[in-house]
Amino acid sequence: MIETITDLDRLRERVRGWKREGLRVGFVPTMGNLHPGHFSLVQLVRQHADRVVSSVFVNPTQFGPNEDFTRYPRTPDADTRGLEAAGCDVLWLPTVESMYPFGVELAGRVHMPGVSAVLEGEFRPGHFDGVCTVVARLFNQVQPDVAAFGKKDYQQLAVIRQMVADLHFPIRILAGEIVREADGLAMSSRNQYLSAGERPRAAEIHRTLCAMRDAHLAGTPRAEVEALGRRRLAEAGFAVDYAVVRRPDLGEPADGEPGPRVALVAARLGSTRLIDNLEF
Ligand code: PAJ
Repeated sequence: MIETITDLDRLRERVRGWKREGLRVGFVPTMGNLHPGHFSLVQLVRQHADRVVSSVFVNPTQFGPNEDFTRYPRTPDADTRGLEAAGCDVLWLPTVESMYPFGVELAGRVHMPGVSAVLEGEFRPGHFDGVCTVVARLFNQVQPDVAAFGKKDYQQLAVIRQMVADLHFPIRILAGEIVREADGLAMSSRNQYLSAGERPRAAEIHRTLCAMRDAHLAGTPRAEVEALGRRRLAEAGFAVDYAVVRRPDLGEPADGEPGPRVALVAARLGSTRLIDNLEF
């Protein structure tokens, strides 16, 4: 049976008990409205831990003023059932008041310079400050040995890795593969904002990423690959924030420079903003 914990002292007591027994503690932070992408992270962390904690917390500090914080989908009963089926031991449910005891305005912030400034950082100013601000708190609350993040949020994973190394959190970070719908659309809580007419068109993001990969592998210069990505998405009716090819550290590679690449896209279909990426 999964145990739902809403009190920090209780959570600490539970984790201390496990650690006294020599058990390794795994952690998967989420914002709820869980889908198979989230559950795959629970299964991944299970392979490296004896007990698994998952948190559901819709974090106000990572949403911009005009973003979807208040309408972010909340499905607590289905989340609890899904986490239990995926092998989660404890569901940690902090409140906004307990997460930010001095209030959101007076909350100490964690800012990671560098990798958080580009791409999502340009289009969602302050977003990664909010992510680091809450994930640092969650790490201190749960004190896991290992934690899993999805490659779906590729830049978030890079920012978290940098924070863990820079602030010396004694936590191993695991990266989970992107879980997709049958037509290639990356699973996301935000997919349900798509209208019936928009939903099939959303799969064009994955097809575009594949086309960008193929063009890159055929030797097309990066600027042309990126233009191709933007054009395809615009033709499918997206408002494109970016469609780029980067090194895994999100730096800009020179043409002809060897090494692994990732294509990253952020684009809006109607009022829904979607992000996705593909490594090659
Ligand atoms: P959320 O969007 O709920 O995602 C929680 C975790 O699930 C993240 O690590 C995300 O990358 C992963 N994930 C989401 N969709 C996925 C998919 N289709 N395949 C694989 N993994 C997927 O990301 C957040 O919440 C928040 O920023 C959080 C880290 C919890 C901090 O508030």
